[in-house]
Formats: sequence, structure tokens, C-alpha cells
Amino acid sequence: MKIQDKKPIDDLVIIIDFGAQYARLIARRIREQNIYCEIKPHTISAKEITARSPKAIILSGGPDSVHEKNSPKIDKDIWSLNIPILGICYGMQLMAQEMGGIVEPGEKSEYGSTQINVTKENKLFEGLQEDLVCWMSHKDLVKGLPEGFETLARSKNIPIASFENKEKKLYGIQFHAEVTHTVWGKDLLENFTSEVAGCKKTWTPESVSKMAIRNIKKEVQDEKVLCALSGGVDSVTTAVLIHKAIGDNLTCVFIDHGLLRKNERQEVENAFKFFNIELNVIDASELFLSKLKGITNPEEKRKIIGESFIRVFEDFSKERQDIKYLAQGTLYPDVIESFDPKGGPSSTIKTHHNVGGLPEDMKFKLVEPLRYFFKDEVRKVAIEIGIPEEMAYRQPFPGPGLAIRIIGEITNEKLRILQEADEIVRKEIESTILEEEVWQYFAVLTDLKTVGVMGDGRTYEHLCAIRAVTSVDGMTCDFPELPWSLIRKMSSRIMNEVNGINRCVYDVSTKPPSTIEWE
Ligand code: XMP
Repeated sequence: MKIQDKKPIDDLVIIIDFGAQYARLIARRIREQNIYCEIKPHTISAKEITARSPKAIILSGGPDSVHEKNSPKIDKDIWSLNIPILGICYGMQLMAQEMGGIVEPGEKSEYGSTQINVTKENKLFEGLQEDLVCWMSHKDLVKGLPEGFETLARSKNIPIASFENKEKKLYGIQFHAEVTHTVWGKDLLENFTSEVAGCKKTWTPESVSKMAIRNIKKEVQDEKVLCALSGGVDSVTTAVLIHKAIGDNLTCVFIDHGLLRKNERQEVENAFKFFNIELNVIDASELFLSKLKGITNPEEKRKIIGESFIRVFEDFSKERQDIKYLAQGTLYPDVIESFDPKGGPSSTIKTHHNVGGLPEDMKFKLVEPLRYFFKDEVRKVAIEIGIPEEMAYRQPFPGPGLAIRIIGEITNEKLRILQEADEIVRKEIESTILEEEVWQYFAVLTDLKTVGVMGDGRTYEHLCAIRAVTSVDGMTCDFPELPWSLIRKMSSRIMNEVNGINRCVYDVSTKPPSTIEWE
């Protein structure tokens, strides 16, 4: 199985990730400038970088100290590629150490707001004030400059808060320009990408939709494509882009895996009529549910579902021998979350069913036009290519469906209970607050049973969790402070109307450390 990995657009910034909490935030900040960027693990070689010909490189922060024996480094040849590099926190310390400077533990760790003063005119801080408040989070410090470097800014505790080697276009900042607490940080990053590295702002919804259509045409040519449709914005956008590129050589398939929300199948069928694209609906619920019987491990569930999807598609395509490509709405966060920034398997968070869950012997070639996009970018592309707003802003629903919202074994009875509870949550939230204010809202059926009392009798039934989150791209989330009256109404309706639930809780967890879905 080979996933296409061509650079989608000319001007590229590569972000090398040292396991930073904030690497994705750096990516968001660069994309917000309409500049394309990719996150790569620190194991990337100079040769691989050259092959992608980026205009600039950003080294992220990270939890390690450059003094630790196994702390992450980069291929030494990267320093002499003649590409502008900005090191942030750990990235700056690594640059200093590798260039012959001195890095030492600070007298005390520094976290939070700090004022820095710009000490020398330079391109990085151009147009910014001289006294700036920024966000620090570090233990080590650059204490001695490498040869050819000059200090750009200092703070009360840090004599070298930023440095440059003007000739080699190497820059370092000890603070985190990517976090919103460093209010002017986005301007500094823009100075680096645009002024220092000369990146063009080509990553706009209009240009990227045109580019995506062009690339699909080039890749697929006259072959036939099967698009896996879930009804969500990602797969609908994928389908419409492909339809614009290759017309009726596209066939869409919607698989009812039996793990859908109440009435979902009908709703998707109705909504899709708008596009005039061939849609086949396959009821494969028996297959999925029988394979999931007795399975409780979340990763196993995901793998089984990923594999079953492909098998159903393959069966379908046996009748349509001419289909060569499978299209999916895989997004960039799915790709990032399925690889470990440190190069090993240890910190893979979840195998998203449409990336790591694909079987090795799959017969289709993949076409994934949204593989480099964040969710908010997909929504903009969707609007750009004429997808109605209610579809473009539909709340995300994961491919594995309710399987990852039923904790423990999946049974028909649990599915019924969750579908009913989930419908109440959706209807109540939609009728009370603006949908745009929340990113996702749903019910989770836990495997925990608790004692209750109904009428005069004892009950022993499931605990249901109500989950609502705010987010920009699903990579981090917060929980909204929903009105108590709304929470009370949802909980009361669920317990009174859904047979099998006698207790409700509201999930007040952020991501990180939790994730949005419970499995
Ligand atoms: P987590 O739970 O990882 O979810 O915080 C982040 C976003 O991704 C969705 N999600 C998935 N989407 N296949 C998908 O298509 C998957 O396997 C999958 N797992 C999670 C989730 O609903 C949220 O929007």
C-alpha cells in the first residue's frame, strides 16, 4: 500500500517535531498565514528534506534537554542546506549546541509571561515593539553564542532570548511565538517565513481547491474512483473535488456499518441528492457487528472497522472491475496522529481508521486530496467549491461511528440505547445554542452500571456521559460551559426516555490530556 506523498504546493515550510506539545500550533500559525507547512519527525534526513525543497525549516520545542544522552538531534547535514532555520526553545538550544555555543540549565525553570527587550535591529523582530511580553517554558538556556551569531533580544533572567546568524539565516527564540499568550508571536513567525525566507502566501482556499482538482486529474487520469462517503464534510468535500476533476468516473459508496446515529443513513441519502453524483448505499451492518462481537479493546475495534470497510469496498468493486482508486477524506491531523514524532510506535495516540487501520494487502491505490488539510481549511475549501453551509459546518462524526462511543463490547441493545440518548443530546443542543459555538456534541455509553431508583424499584443500569467540545481543528479541545438548564434537560430526558440508562454525567475534560472521543 503506497500513500501518495507529493508536495502539494511550491512554497513549503517544514516543521521538525521534537515531541513538542506545541508543534501542531506552529503548523496552525503558519497555515493561518496562507503558507503551506508540514510536520516531520526529527529523524528526517537532509536528503529527504532536499527532496521536498522547502523554503524554510522550523525546529519545534520539546520536553528533552540537549544534555541528555538520547535527546533528539537532527541530521547534521541539515544545518548546511542553506535553508533559513528558526529554532524555538529546544530547537534554539539544539542549534546553539550544534554550532558550538554553550547551553546550560537555567538557575530556575521559567514558565509563563516574561518581558523581553529587543537589543539589535533585525528582520525577525521587524515592525515589532522593543519591549515585548512573551510566553516562556524552559529549563535550559543558551549561555554562550556560537561563532557568527549575535544576540537579538534579552530578558531579565535570560541574556540570550533570541539570536541570529544573519549570513546563514539561522535564528533562535527561547520563547514560544506560536502560543496565543505571545500575542505578537504570529507577526514574528510571519517575519521569518515571509521576510527572511521569502515564502509566498499561496495556500488560499481558492488556490488549494484548484490545485487539488488539478492534482486529482493528473494522478487519476481516465481511471475510475470509488469514494468512501460518510456524509461528513471531509468525505463530501473529497467527493465533490474528485467529481469536479473526473466527472462521472467517480462512484460514491456509503456503507451503513450499523454504527450510525439515528436516522443518519436517510439524512445522508437525502442531502447527497443535491450533488448529482452516483451514490450506492450498502447495508453491511451484519458483517461489522459480527466481527466486533466480543471485542472490547479500542484499538482492536478501530482495526477491525478499518479492515471491514476496505473488504466491503473490495467486494463492491468486484462487480465493478474497472475501479482502481479508493478516495478517502483523510485529513492532516489523522496523518500526524498516526505517526510518532520520535520515530517509534510508542506515542501513537489512536489508529485513525482511515490511516493506520488499512490492511497491508489492500488492492486499491489511494487518493486522498485532503491529506494535507486541517479541518477548518477543509470547511473553507467546501464553501469555495459550492457545498452548502449546513454540510460544510456539520459536526464531525468519526468513521468508526458509535463503536468508539460504546465503551466495552458492542451489542445491539447498547447501540439502541446510545442512538436514543445521542439523538436527545443532538436535538437539545441544536435547539438551545448555536451549533457554531460547539465543535462536537454527543452521548457516550459507558460500560459502567450504577444503582438507581425508579418508581419504588431498584434499577441497575448504564451510566451515560454527555460530551460537548469546542475546538478549531479537533487537535485540542475545551468543554463549553453549557447552561445548567440545558444539561438538566438533556440528563432528565435521557433518564426518563431511554430504557437502559439511569445516570448521566457531563464530561469536563480538555484535550490534552483527554481526547475528544472516549476510545
Ligand atoms: P480524538 O478523539 O482523537 O478526535 O480527540 C479528534 C477528532 O477526530 C475524530 N476521530 C476520527 N475521525 N476516524 C475519523 O474519521 C477515526 O478513526 C477517528 N477518531 C477520532 C473525532 O470525532 C474528533 O473530531
